[in-house]
Amino acid sequence: MAVEIKIAVDNPALSRAAAEEFKITAESAIAERGRFAVALSGGNTPRSVYSLLAQHYKTSLPWSKVHIFFGDERSVPPDHPDSNYRMANEALLSHVAILPENVHRILAELDPEPAAQEYENQLREFFRPADGDWPRFDLIMLGLGEDGHTASLFPGSSALNETSRLVVPTWVEEKKTFRITLTYPVLNHAAEVEFLVAGAGKAQILKEVLNHSSPMYPAQRIKPGNGRLLWLLDQAAASLLPSQIQGK
Ligand code: 6PG
Repeated sequence: MAVEIKIAVDNPALSRAAAEEFKITAESAIAERGRFAVALSGGNTPRSVYSLLAQHYKTSLPWSKVHIFFGDERSVPPDHPDSNYRMANEALLSHVAILPENVHRILAELDPEPAAQEYENQLREFFRPADGDWPRFDLIMLGLGEDGHTASLFPGSSALNETSRLVVPTWVEEKKTFRITLTYPVLNHAAEVEFLVAGAGKAQILKEVLNHSSPMYPAQRIKPGNGRLLWLLDQAAASLLPSQIQGK
């Protein structure tokens, strides 16, 4: 596993770097396999990346060969303000020539368990992993919560121990809601996992995660064994990292 850390001067520069990384990984995957399978992250940080892709990569990316998935979803309908799909659709999907059938949404309007099962079926149908193998995304975009969660893998959750399912429903006590999330076997089988972390509010948790805190936070267990792990940070989030990492 190759681990890389790139630090941008500010959030706009971070978004530009993430949009360029999306393009580079997409072009590489399409050249190799004729398609790009990417799992988008939810939350606030990636919204500006998706908007940049819509504004500046509308014609420079072969969107008809892009397959959009989601790393997790809140247990709400697709038009709900909390929906990760709604955020991605508003910022990106409704602005580019992606084929509707290539947007693989988590049907989070269903109850959590059938929603998870249905999404797992979508993954198996698309990737057709051999028995005992796992779907291999070309890129999985992740965020980092201040409690060290990523996707919807929260501290103390039983989802952290899942070793056979691709997708599980998970109750998130601190948010008093269900989520649906990819599991570690899928996340750690990706060709590239990219964490996008911005803002001073993430500096402490980022320092602990990158310093291999013990006990481990969920985000620390993201280790793509046969892939690349890329941390895309802005200086504010990176401000507590050792100076040699900050490049100072
Ligand atoms: C979600 C994400 C979640 C997010 C982190 C960081 O559905 O919210 O999957 O893991 O990436 O909570 O969120 P921010 O980018 O809003 O800080």
